[in-house]
Amino acid sequence: MTRQLETAASVRRLSPPSNVGSELAADTFAGLTSTPKQLSSKYFYDARGSELFEDITQLPEYYLTRAEAEILTLYADEMMDAIKPEELVELGSGYSVKTRLLLEALNRAGTGTLYIPFDISETAIRDASATLSDHYPWLTIEGLVGDFPADLPRIPHSGRRLVTFLGSTIGNFRSPDRVEFYRSVGAMLEPTDGLLVGVDLVKDINTLLAAYDDSAGVTAEFNRNILHVLNRELGANFPVDEFDYVVRWDAVDECVSMGLRATRDMTVTIAAIGLTIRLAEGEEIHDEVSCKFRRDVVEAEASAAGLAVNGWWTDTEDRFAVALLQPKPAPRPWKLHRPRN
Ligand code: SAH
Ligand code: AVI
Repeated sequence: MTRQLETAASVRRLSPPSNVGSELAADTFAGLTSTPKQLSSKYFYDARGSELFEDITQLPEYYLTRAEAEILTLYADEMMDAIKPEELVELGSGYSVKTRLLLEALNRAGTGTLYIPFDISETAIRDASATLSDHYPWLTIEGLVGDFPADLPRIPHSGRRLVTFLGSTIGNFRSPDRVEFYRSVGAMLEPTDGLLVGVDLVKDINTLLAAYDDSAGVTAEFNRNILHVLNRELGANFPVDEFDYVVRWDAVDECVSMGLRATRDMTVTIAAIGLTIRLAEGEEIHDEVSCKFRRDVVEAEASAAGLAVNGWWTDTEDRFAVALLQPKPAPRPWKLHRPRN
């Protein structure tokens, strides 16, 4: 539901819509002409995809959102106290549901009143901004529609800043891209700013696989939504219901890996990019990873990007963690002592 904003909330796009469409076209061409075929999960999140993700957060098998909400309920005040932010910037904010716990802590701390949600999904940003502005009259909201990491340098900076990246969305990148992502966020931070990252922790494989293969089939529908996006945005003719959803555990990289498998031989045309592809029965299109974390991996990847882990909070069952990353202090320059004569 999108409606006009009347209060202290604004929404703007960081890149023109034509760039967004041409990137989808270029990425789809590259992904579907490579072996194995692949697509990027960032294109899941049209209006329907964003709503399906909200449905996922309510599923009994998907413990991640509840575990992270528990951490924020218990420790949001401590997090605010560590940074004393004047502004809260949220990357991949979606419908900003758990964010309320942080915003309420920000209000209690009394250090700032500016919230900048940033997401690729315009509907999610518009909806969240309207709802939050009704709910929190004291809050100024500057919603931004953009694509990370490319658009991160375009986010305006107006004071001591706490950036948040919740939901273990960092796990939707593999390791080298995570380090690159941390580097891009690091470039947005002054020495006393901070980045809160939510990470889902490595645990028994059955619990992990069930979280991504729920019995109601919502996650399968969420995943198939990317084919609806390509059919609508690029004039493709994927027979969406003739793909099975596939989930497996990649033990080497400790990631859940997801994709779609053709249930018959088929030819698909993607009109807008002049591409026709063949899929053999059983052939898969890989479209998402959700990597899981250990504390030492988070510390090593943050450190490779010039950030230190200065806080680590977990839920009572140790399923999920929220880490506070801050720029590592610059090394002290060598002091030269001349020998005295
Ligand atoms: N933070 C929320 C939502 C997580 S879902 C939570 O914890 O529940 C992941 C969010 O990241 C979605 O809202 C999606 O639209 C957004 N997203 C995915 N790829 C993105 C990209 N490349 N740039 C900006 N936002 C992106
Ligand atoms: C947004 N992201 C962190 C979710 C995850 O858990 O990787 C997306 C998701 N994919 C399937 N279920 C949820």
